[in-house]
Amino acid sequence: WIAYLVAALVGYGLGSIPFGLLLTRAAGLGDVRAIGSGNIGATNVLRTGNKKLAAATLLLDLLKGTAAVLLVRFLMPAAPEADTLAGVAAFLGHLFPVWLGFRGGKGVATYIGVLLGLFWPAVLIFAGVWIVIAYFSRYSSLAALVATVVVPLALWGLGENILAAMFALLTVIVWVKHRANIRRLLEGTEGKIGHKG
Ligand code: G3P
Repeated sequence: WIAYLVAALVGYGLGSIPFGLLLTRAAGLGDVRAIGSGNIGATNVLRTGNKKLAAATLLLDLLKGTAAVLLVRFLMPAAPEADTLAGVAAFLGHLFPVWLGFRGGKGVATYIGVLLGLFWPAVLIFAGVWIVIAYFSRYSSLAALVATVVVPLALWGLGENILAAMFALLTVIVWVKHRANIRRLLEGTEGKIGHKG
């Protein structure tokens, strides 16, 4: 069980690095939590007006999930599913980082990163759905909410039943974290991509 404890700690440690906050601070843009939705994710970093920083936030928040899976898989090949545990821990680390009083991000980028490490073809499905919805609606949150429902269904359709169940659980957590976005979408007051809202 020590291997699983280490896997969880490695995952949580990587996942809890708040790249959006660190990058915006390093760029002298202040605290990203004080603007837009108050979130530390790439969508809100984009509201600073700095596209490169938003792209870097998306990439790093994503890759920390992938890194957790691959690192644990490499270090502990004999512990079955330790990589999956590390991925889930990274996702939870992003959402509940001890360094920020457990108030972290909404999990979308890290969700994709964990998916990349565990079953990469499903990332193409996520990306396809996200791009289509975001293109037509201009809502990052709506695109992510729909894509996170399609992914577990697609995994299930592909016969990956355990992964489907696990990602369904992560989807529920993503949706709970987006409850303010869902309320704004229903009211028609959600900020569109790139707009300061
Ligand atoms: O899924 C995108 C989500 O993170 C939206 O971010 O800043 O609009 O709440 P935000």
